[in-house]
Amino acid sequence: MERIVLAYSGGLDTSVAIPWLKEKYNAEIIAVTMDLGQGKELEEVRDRALATGAVRAHVLDLREEFARDYILPALKADAIYEDRYPMATALGRPLIGQKLVEIAEIEQAGAIAHGSTGKGNDQVRLDVTTRALNPNLKIIAPARDWGMTRPEEIEYARQRNIPVPATVASPYSTDSNLWGRSIECGILEDPWQEPPEEIYALTKSPAECPDEPAYVEIAFERGVPSAINGVPMPLLDLIASLGTIAGAHGVGRIDMVENRLVGIKSREIYEAPAAAVLHAAHKELQKLVTTKDLERLSRFVSLQYADLIYNGLWFTPTREALDAFVEKVQERVTGVIRLKLFKGDSRIVGRKSPYSLYEHALATYDAGDLFDQTAAVGFIKIWGLPVESAARKAPKVASHTSSVVSLAGQK
Ligand code: ARG
Repeated sequence: MERIVLAYSGGLDTSVAIPWLKEKYNAEIIAVTMDLGQGKELEEVRDRALATGAVRAHVLDLREEFARDYILPALKADAIYEDRYPMATALGRPLIGQKLVEIAEIEQAGAIAHGSTGKGNDQVRLDVTTRALNPNLKIIAPARDWGMTRPEEIEYARQRNIPVPATVASPYSTDSNLWGRSIECGILEDPWQEPPEEIYALTKSPAECPDEPAYVEIAFERGVPSAINGVPMPLLDLIASLGTIAGAHGVGRIDMVENRLVGIKSREIYEAPAAAVLHAAHKELQKLVTTKDLERLSRFVSLQYADLIYNGLWFTPTREALDAFVEKVQERVTGVIRLKLFKGDSRIVGRKSPYSLYEHALATYDAGDLFDQTAAVGFIKIWGLPVESAARKAPKVASHTSSVVSLAGQK
């Protein structure tokens, strides 16, 4: 009998997938539920998998691995998709794919299955990850194949006496883990409509935020966030407490229309309070300690890195090569960033580092100035040389002087 390892969230799609896979492939279904910090009661999800017909159901706590091996490299690289999305979902998928492959090998299954539809990015990330790690595994995405609408899925479940999860009442589709949350569907599909307050779960409305700002100091060591307000913390705790503080001040709401890999533009709402402040802080600190040219090069790497994560290319030599570059830059990314959080706004108000390239003696306009202003004259002479040459050799363009002429003519 065939064996299929299914990534099981406990939602409607993956619940319906259990009987569907069993019937269609005459297979045993092994459900795997992974904890990436989505904050659901996963023992209940395991029970539901068994009640729905899985022969075995595993629960894996991957929070630490997720933070250390996926979130952290993306943070060090300042990888943000299309300037705004910190990629909670996109970063989780390669880890989920990796674990599906591992469990499939342990269970001697010939196939893995996941609940992605055929319209999104997640199918690409999971399929490509599986092919990178074990190309012999068959990949099945029931929701991409079955062509059922949501009501039809519910009917399918009812006919088979499968418990339908309570979340089916919500008009929204959400995905969440410890790095953030995404909300799609319903009224949000109209990009002109302001998101209703009810969709938010991690961030307060600015109108309900405290009237006093909060100051947060985030310390980094070699690119790794290590303490908040002087209190050292393991990464998971640090992300959780920053999420609480920033969320309470309404920080981390993102409303964007993004470009999916499959060619669709989609309206996405994200909540990522911890990611928002950590990314802003890391980027600021790295800017303080890198030379101008290295900083520009790093920005280019950030773009490439973000695309690579978003597009499902985590398990590639390209990512490993970029990691080596990023890691080299992190040698100097040690220091503290001070942020002020206030009614939905987060701004950096202080920065310091033992490797800071900011030199007061060079920057100051007060006493103690060490900058040699007389040297500026020679520098500018040579810097401006090609500009002067080009201007002298400029082709004559009539319009260039005409405004002076016409102004004179008006008199
Ligand atoms: N557009 C985002 C991304 O591609 C969020 C996807 C949310 N996924 C989901 N299964 N609800 O990363």
